[in-house]
Amino acid sequence: MRLKLALGLLIALLGTAAGGEEITSGSAFLSPDLRRQQDDPTRNPGWFWVEQGQGLFGRKPGASQACSQCHAEPEKSLRGAATHYPQVDAGTGQLLNLEGRIEQCRVERQKQPAFGYESGELLALTSYVASLSRGLPMDVETRGPAQPFYNAGRAFFERRQGQLNLSCKQCHDGLVGQKLRGDTISHGAGTGYPAYRLEWNGVGSLHRRLRACSLGVRATQFDYGAPEYLALELYLAARARGLPIETPAMRR
Ligand code: HEC
Ligand code: HEC
Repeated sequence: MRLKLALGLLIALLGTAAGGEEITSGSAFLSPDLRRQQDDPTRNPGWFWVEQGQGLFGRKPGASQACSQCHAEPEKSLRGAATHYPQVDAGTGQLLNLEGRIEQCRVERQKQPAFGYESGELLALTSYVASLSRGLPMDVETRGPAQPFYNAGRAFFERRQGQLNLSCKQCHDGLVGQKLRGDTISHGAGTGYPAYRLEWNGVGSLHRRLRACSLGVRATQFDYGAPEYLALELYLAARARGLPIETPAMRR
């Protein structure tokens, strides 16, 4: 009931909302308290996942090589890597996000079973690898083989969907700065993921957040790592071009 009221109000606002302004990070929309907690590594629990990921990175799984054996000095060799994801894999022509690239190394190079999307291990390793690019600007390729994926992501972003018949764009362009159920609507940049969300009581991937938005408008929730969300992730990353990576961010 309260949800319906809140959304009714939002939809009424849609007529008046502007849009098309510069994209800003989700951190700019946090309460001052949460912002301070996020920016203090001793109080931001997301750093536990980063540390765990660092540990896994150096560990040998059975007879296989550790990540660190092929990726020596990751602070240098993988610095900036996350800014270029999602990207089209030259071998398969598939769009891969950072989680997908790490799973590829796990399966094809370490010859180990995949961790699985949203597993503790994959979240930790993704948080660690993304954290190595903190402060560096997002810079994904949207041309060439990436173009069809970019176009699909953009079409998804602009399409009205769900029982509430709302597009991502209507909220994350048209209603930026408005309140919705205790949140302030941001541009949906996604530059802080994997992020520690209070509601999750843990770290979650960007796709987990996208599933929450799909549910919010009563639309289809796609699987973790689904092509639809990968294309959307590429479009969000392109919109966020130039914004620094902030993993591990904190969110409500
Ligand atoms: C046997 C060697 C090997 C192992 C083990 C390995 N990788 Fe890789 N990894 C590679 C190679 C080779 C590439 C492709 C390098 C390139 O062309 O940029 C790569 C690419 C990557 C990339 C993308 C880098 C970029 O700039 O786009 C990431 C991230 C990555 N690996 C993470 C990991 C993680 C995490 C692990 C452990 C779970 C791991 N790798 C294990 C060899 C390995
Ligand atoms: C009814 C409005 C609404 C719609 C429609 C909506 N979202 Fe959201 N979304 C929110 C709210 C509220 C939040 C939490 C506050 C924030 O960060 O914007 C959020 C958060 C996000 C975030 C996380 C941003 C961050 O920095 O933590 C992303 C990314 C996102 N949405 C993408 C999307 C995409 C893609 C779609 C379309 C599939 C979509 N949203 C549809 C309201 C909406």
